[in-house]
Amino acid sequence: MHIFDQIDHLTEVVVSCKITTPDELEAFRIKFLGKKGVVSTLFEEFRSVPGDQKKEVGQKINLLKNLIRERINQFMAGVTDNDDADPDTDLSLPGSPRLLGSRHPVSIVNQEIITIFSHLGFTISEGPEIEDDNHVFTKLNFAPDHPARDMQDTFFIHKHAQSEDSVDDILLRTHTSSVQVRVMENQPPPIRTISPGRVFRNEAISARAHCIFHQVEGLYINENVSFADLKQTLLFFTKEMFGFETQIRLRPSFFPFTEPSAEFDVSCKICDSKGCGVCKYTGWLEILGCGMVDPDVLDNCGIDSQKYTGFAFGMGVERLAMLKYKVNDLRLYFENDLRFLEQFTYSI
Ligand code: PHE
Repeated sequence: MHIFDQIDHLTEVVVSCKITTPDELEAFRIKFLGKKGVVSTLFEEFRSVPGDQKKEVGQKINLLKNLIRERINQFMAGVTDNDDADPDTDLSLPGSPRLLGSRHPVSIVNQEIITIFSHLGFTISEGPEIEDDNHVFTKLNFAPDHPARDMQDTFFIHKHAQSEDSVDDILLRTHTSSVQVRVMENQPPPIRTISPGRVFRNEAISARAHCIFHQVEGLYINENVSFADLKQTLLFFTKEMFGFETQIRLRPSFFPFTEPSAEFDVSCKICDSKGCGVCKYTGWLEILGCGMVDPDVLDNCGIDSQKYTGFAFGMGVERLAMLKYKVNDLRLYFENDLRFLEQFTYSI
């Protein structure tokens, strides 16, 4: 057969050939494009084609080669590993869109807080949710009869009948200050760390209180750490979190583990400090507690209080998320209602 007729014949074979399985497709590829396949053989024969026909024959072989490639691509789009595939399936139909997941608002705000403090060189420390009295209360200067040890606030897992034995009580941590006690016990200053985590309080669930919530507590211990350092750190945090124009205010307060202690307010963004229901018409919103670490706490944890001073602060993540997203009921964070959660789809 003349090479022209040979190519025409092969073209017909390629056009009419039907392939339905991956094995058949592979056999087709080897037969036509393999090392000793049809196309290679044609190019071999091409060498002995007379000079005046070379151009035309070369073009024909190339056309055939392109046609074979095209057929392979078509087959690949249609052939699946599933031999039972429905032949009526329309492979050109557009796919169904995938639903985009979203982050929980508490996770978004938690991550934001972590990012801001990591820019100031704070490390992240974590610890157990099930704790002993020692780390949650005793080392933090809670007197044995402090009301926070009361059954009303704390979920006890194992409680000794004799309250003098309270050090051995096992409970769910009520704040992540317990993690900071563990850091102080195990690491010499300088310490600059934040402890994000879940905490538990035995409270009736309402729009403003829940028995589970999240905190980020911070601790900085070094030589010559002062209250001014605390204020400057929290001012930086506030401006990053709520915007540069946000004002801050500190009010004297009391915590067993800090002295002096303060409650920390930011100017209400919702009403521009003019007064609204959220800030109870004061223009200010309390967002955290803070203070200078009590020297007794340092000594309790093996740190020389003559040499070192430190500051600490603690904030509730749900509370910050409420302010940021203007959510007025804490319970929404825990109900997993998609109508609520879907609103945060595009917030990341
Ligand atoms: N641990 C306190 C709480 O849970 C918050 C706090 C931390 C206050 C550090 C002062 C200093 O409420």
